Amino acid sequence: MKVAIGCDHGAFELKEKVIKFLQGNGYDILDLGCNSLDSVDYPKYGKAVGEAVVNKKAEKGIVLCGTGIGISIAANKVKGVRAALCNNTTTARLTREHNDANVLAIGARMVGDVLAFEMVETFLTTEFEGGRHQKRIEMISEIEG
Ligand code: RB5
Repeated sequence: MKVAIGCDHGAFELKEKVIKFLQGNGYDILDLGCNSLDSVDYPKYGKAVGEAVVNKKAEKGIVLCGTGIGISIAANKVKGVRAALCNNTTTARLTREHNDANVLAIGARMVGDVLAFEMVETFLTTEFEGGRHQKRIEMISEIEG
């Protein structure tokens, strides 16, 4: 599976660790930056990852900033993106099963490395349940117009 990943400076170090974790587990990575600890603006990276996912350059996306909030808001402005900010493995699993989330958002200043890896693994290996949840996904798409 190909995974697009992007972050701001507040999450650069965790992004690098997540990339190593994913590559070690056989995933292909589309790294959309940022590439250092220098201050950058998270909307640019949330947009880039969101567009990579909806344009099928990658199957799933991961976005990271200090809290995970700003970059998840930005990614969610891209039509077709369902970005979920998760803080534990239960929400990482449920947002795949119920929301068919296609982008995982992580707050690098909010969670430890091991939990971040576990959330990433859970998110990428859990299938959408469909069924009663499908109609609700379609209702979200209708809001987008
Ligand atoms: C950057 O300092 C910080 O505002 C950003 O990483 C993020 O937490 C915003 O939501």
